[in-house]
Order: sequence, then structure tokens, then C-alpha cells
Amino acid sequence: MAQYCSLNGKILPQKEASLGVTDLALLRGYGIFDYFLFRYGRPMLEAQYLERFYNSAEKMGLEPPMRWQELSRHMRELIAANGEGKGAIRLLLTGGYSPDGYSPGTPNLIVLQHPWPSYPETHFTEGVGLITHHFQREWPEVKSINYLTGIKLLPEIRSAGALEVLYHYNGVLRESVRSNVFLINDKEELVTPDRDILFGITRDSVIKAAAGLLPVVTREVRMEEVYNAREVFLTGSNKSAMPVVRIDGRAIGDGKVGYWARTLKAKLEEYREAYYQRAEV
Ligand SMILES: Cc1ncc(COP(=O)(O)O)c(C=O)c1O
Repeated sequence: MAQYCSLNGKILPQKEASLGVTDLALLRGYGIFDYFLFRYGRPMLEAQYLERFYNSAEKMGLEPPMRWQELSRHMRELIAANGEGKGAIRLLLTGGYSPDGYSPGTPNLIVLQHPWPSYPETHFTEGVGLITHHFQREWPEVKSINYLTGIKLLPEIRSAGALEVLYHYNGVLRESVRSNVFLINDKEELVTPDRDILFGITRDSVIKAAAGLLPVVTREVRMEEVYNAREVFLTGSNKSAMPVVRIDGRAIGDGKVGYWARTLKAKLEEYREAYYQRAEV
């Protein structure tokens, strides 16, 4: 746990930070967040993440107590206070203290610092499994704090030896609970859904990193295509590009980590590193 966090613009020891019991995030699960990595003391692709954060807030009618530039400066102050060169930042904007247990109040803004994410190396060298579930996230383009379905399904996910649950709706692929999904088909195209999903920043980076390497197609994707894909992989800020070798117990392709999952992970990491080399401090 990081030593410091921030509550409504005040940096304070995380152990001392607390929120009142009438916040709408607690009473009704109303709030939005964002999550991104930082290295060299600087948030990765900051403009893209902040844009998504402010969009989520606006779509849910929540006004952040800090403007963009101020929040950007403030995050860097928090990172400096914690003194770690790399890690992750979570911005959380709640519904605020509700006057009647239902209507929003003035949003509370929390900034938390987390350790750099670490998954076992075997997730990348051997791939992971998924189970599927018929579900459509509400307000798909909003990064809301509502993960009810994914968390409720944790026992099933774990007993299947899977990492996450993959959502589909009426036979159409959406995303996984915390990641976007790509597949490589027999035409050697990179295919990913184009609607009713959270538009992941890592998804966007992979699309950019893949340019010129293979055709990238964003469109509706049916579940049969997923089961019959040569390769499937997940993308997320905390997991880079992670190969999926099993869905509902069925092998994807030859059941091994494929060439494109490996190659695009490497390209994604180059793309991320290039960002830091170019980014202004
Ligand atoms: C529902 C959902 N889809 C996709 C993603 C991946 O988004 P990003 O690459 O911006 O982390 C996340 C990340 O938490 C998510 O919660």
C-alpha cells in the first residue's frame, strides 16, 4: 500500500483517509474511476486517460472538483510524495454525500496509488482461460465502479481455473470484465469489437502498434468467431496484451500462445516506452 493518497485535493497518509458513510458510491454504487500506469514519475498516456475520466464524469452528471491541469499537477505531486518511480494511479469520483440516500451530492475525488501490476509470467508464456457470460455493461463507454457481475462470478471463474469472465450479448462479443478482447482470424486479421464496450486505452495502443503489421478490423464480432479464432488476447492497462488459450474449457487455436499475441505484446510495450521517451515532463 502506498503511504499517501489524496482526498478532494489534500494529500494525506492513506491510513488516515476516510469517506463518510452516506456517499452514494457506498449506498448505491454510483461513481466512476480510471486507472493507469506511471513510470519515471509520469502517468502513461495521461491525456487519453484524463479525457476518458472527464467523459465518464460528464456522462454520469458528476462534476470533478478539479480541472484537468490541476488534477494533472496534483497526481504528480502524489506520485512524488510516495517516492516510487513506477506504479499505478486510480482516480475515483463518487456520487458524493447524498441528502436523501438516492440523489447525488457534491462528488468526492480520491486519488490512490497502487503498486506496478504484476501477473505471473506464466500468464504470458502459457496463456490464460476465460469463462463466458451473457451480459451487457450498463453505460458501456463509462468506466463506472460497478463490477457487480464480474465479482459475483468470481467463484465460478476460479473453479474453472479461469482468469476473467468474457461478456457476450445475444451471441455478440463485448469485452471481458476488466479488459478488451482481440482475435486473430484465419485471414490473419486483427479483429476487435467496435461498440457497446469500454474503449480501452490499451486497445487503442494495440490498434496503433499493429498498424502496418496486419489488417486491423473493428466491427461486430460473433462468439463463433471467438471460439474458432487462431488466437485471442486480452488488453488492459494492468495486463498489457495477455494471451487467452482456453474459453469455456475449449482450446483456442492449438491451445498455445500464438505468434501475434507475443508480437503485439512486444510492440505494445515498445509503443508505451516510446511514449515516455517523447513525453514532456
Ligand atoms: C470493462 C473494461 N473494459 C476494458 C478495460 C481495459 O481498458 P484499459 O485498456 O483502458 O485499461 C477495462 C479496464 O479496467 C474495463 O474495466
